[in-house]
Amino acid sequence: MAFPATRLRRLRRTGALRSMVRETRLTPENFVYPLFVCPGEGVRKEVRSMPGVFNLSVDETVKEAREAQSLGIPALILFGLPEKKDEIATGAWDENGIVQRAARAIKAAVPDMVVIGDVCLCEYMSHGHCGVVRSSHGPRSVGAAARESSAAVAVKRGAVPKAIDAAAAKLAHQPEYEIVNDATLELLEKTSVSLARAGVDIIAPSDMMDGRVAAIRKALDEAQFENTPILSYAAKFSSAFYGPFREAADSAPQFGDRRSYQMDGANIREAMREIELDIEEGADMVMVKPAMPYLDVIAAARERFDLPIAAYQVSGEYAMIEAAARNNWVDRDRVIAESLTSIRRAGASVIVTYHAKDAAKLLD
Ligand code: PBG
Repeated sequence: MAFPATRLRRLRRTGALRSMVRETRLTPENFVYPLFVCPGEGVRKEVRSMPGVFNLSVDETVKEAREAQSLGIPALILFGLPEKKDEIATGAWDENGIVQRAARAIKAAVPDMVVIGDVCLCEYMSHGHCGVVRSSHGPRSVGAAARESSAAVAVKRGAVPKAIDAAAAKLAHQPEYEIVNDATLELLEKTSVSLARAGVDIIAPSDMMDGRVAAIRKALDEAQFENTPILSYAAKFSSAFYGPFREAADSAPQFGDRRSYQMDGANIREAMREIELDIEEGADMVMVKPAMPYLDVIAAARERFDLPIAAYQVSGEYAMIEAAARNNWVDRDRVIAESLTSIRRAGASVIVTYHAKDAAKLLD
């Protein structure tokens, strides 16, 4: 039945009516609050590009855990800034690593808090990549690269310097290194087991190596952590929205980028394959990341798979909201609530967000 019998505005007339028919609700129970743990004591160092987000020493993370709990936030996800970085990510799997220490302290002080451990190596590797790096064999010099490309394209006489320029540019972008998949898995297994030993409740691999969920599941089971769930960052896109995080976690790659392991932002079918494989390998929950630019991926995953789906509202999403709000260009509170609601509406049950505390206060 159409207008005038049907008038959709009837149910929008008052706050009580709108609330009664609201389809999507936001509650702090859906939130996961990320923390960046650093060495020292009494340290609270604000991240320049993420106002309101801090690098925190272990004692300060415990304070944050208490506050999060008092606001009804059930879970934290921990990232670490180790004392030292090396080529085998020792800080990630060291029994006394920074995240292991924080997890123990948080579980001792706030036992009900769900502590999620992000499993990745980039914060602990001297080169900032998420896996073991081996140099591979591209052309070894500009001359060699130029010879290759002038063989491919017939170079006219006089155009040679140009060809050399082009070859030099190409060489600069050529991968001369490789992120070695299977060698990385061993380090991820060690990291996961050591986090579980430190009391971490959920293991969340974010490295995007192939086969890591199966490898981690097996390692956890062998170490008798068969009850520890895996939340896999299954569809993690290679995104410019991670920029501020790399400052917060000091994890920017020192050369190249992450495109050989994180997904191409154009691919939704491949995202479904990634999720499907992680489920087959034993993931208990899957994550889509970033959130707002990939709401369609969240919605497609929700339609297709029957396990809890998480979404990560990443550092760049947070930074954009904060920057616009600081300029009084948007209403901060309303933009926070609206962006989180849209992620829930798309189908995420769990949202990792730097706005967790602010949003919980808004909802109070
Ligand atoms: C580790 C990791 C990253 C994020 C979560 N885990 C960074 C990256 O992949 O470069 C990004 C989170 C954010 O931007 O808030 N690999």
